[in-house]
Amino acid sequence: MPKLLFLFLFFLLFLLRPHHVSAHFIRQPSRPLVFTPHNRPDSHPQQVHVSLVGNNYMKVSWVTRGSGVSSTVEYGKTPGKYESTATGEHTSYYYFLYTSGKIHHVTIGPLDPATVYYYRCGGAGPEFNFRTPPATFPIEFAVAGDLGQTEWTSSTLEHINASDYDILLLPGDLSYADTQQPLWDSFGRLVEPYASRRPWMVTQGNHEQETFPIIYPKGFKAYNSRWPMPYKESASDSNLYYSFDAIGTHIIMLASYADFHVHSNQFNWLAKDLAKIDRSRTPWVVVLLHAPWYNSNLAHQGEGESMRVAMEEMLYNSRVDVVFVGHVHAYERFTRVYNNKANPCGPIHVTIGDGGNREGLAMLYKDPTPSISLYREASFGHGRLRILNDTHAHWSWNRNDDSVSVVADEIWFKSLSSSSSCFPKVQPTIEPTSEKDEL
Ligand SMILES: [Fe+2]
Repeated sequence: MPKLLFLFLFFLLFLLRPHHVSAHFIRQPSRPLVFTPHNRPDSHPQQVHVSLVGNNYMKVSWVTRGSGVSSTVEYGKTPGKYESTATGEHTSYYYFLYTSGKIHHVTIGPLDPATVYYYRCGGAGPEFNFRTPPATFPIEFAVAGDLGQTEWTSSTLEHINASDYDILLLPGDLSYADTQQPLWDSFGRLVEPYASRRPWMVTQGNHEQETFPIIYPKGFKAYNSRWPMPYKESASDSNLYYSFDAIGTHIIMLASYADFHVHSNQFNWLAKDLAKIDRSRTPWVVVLLHAPWYNSNLAHQGEGESMRVAMEEMLYNSRVDVVFVGHVHAYERFTRVYNNKANPCGPIHVTIGDGGNREGLAMLYKDPTPSISLYREASFGHGRLRILNDTHAHWSWNRNDDSVSVVADEIWFKSLSSSSSCFPKVQPTIEPTSEKDEL
């Protein structure tokens, strides 16, 4: 009997617990892990995914278990007809008793924009296809963080796939393998139907670290082997931070889990990368990183603060338009902000760490809501950034309402490069006429 009473009190406390969230809040419990089995022959490609490499090139990555499989990709614009072939490289890694399969990476191109290419990996297995990003506006990014591999992840991925987009951006925490390496393989198989069709551009979260004292002190073995991003192409010295362009948009992926302090490699690289931005070519600048700089959820409070202190001024001075973060398993949108205050020339900060992982949602919020936080809700979902032209973009957050995708938050906003007060047009410098010229 006391047991029943205890259970009843626990249930009552659970129902009455404080959760200062929006009026639309619906609690969504965690859903079970989905393990995606390997069901192709060992020599056939599995875990196929594509990512952008410089202008007009795509990297195709996949894993095989058999020996003697070549790192080649055949591709063309017609199904079954491969006019071109490219050869790349392969790698593998050990993690304690686990040995990965052969992880192939092949860069193909040059490719035409907004074009569907059909491709086959290693001369065997099924044909895949992807579409390259457009060369003119509009462009649409799907944004989802802290994915994991649960039934919620599956529904988020289905919702992302249900309406068209060009590139997926992921602000960290991919597989939630957490050192269980077969879960990296399972994650690769779970996302293959999506990541083989559109480029996935990712940055790392804490769940990618997988450090172990003395043996793996630097971590990121699986992440760097499986998800190489175009860091060399953006003059970075680490796969953990890099940048790339997609029509009219410069996208910077930062590392919450690499040194970011003043004069660190990442700090110096960011300063150089920001200095190179030409807003007449890329009027939009978007940044992704994992641990939020602004966050009114009680989860992970203050974890991004030292990075904010180190780097926020640089982003502000460069008039970054939007910062997407993950880590907190909920959605939150802030107003334009700088140094903890609303600022019309600061970036909009968005927490989008609600992809669907096994840890469930971050339910508790600061009360009252800070004035800079405009929308917050602990539900699973994903975001859409549709950039219409040089000046206007639309952002929406799509909640997984049970298993249906519903737009719960949306805004139109303008690029800071189109703001005369935030981005005063620099008067052309008039060179003083030299005496020589006068002669
Ligand atoms: Fe995280």
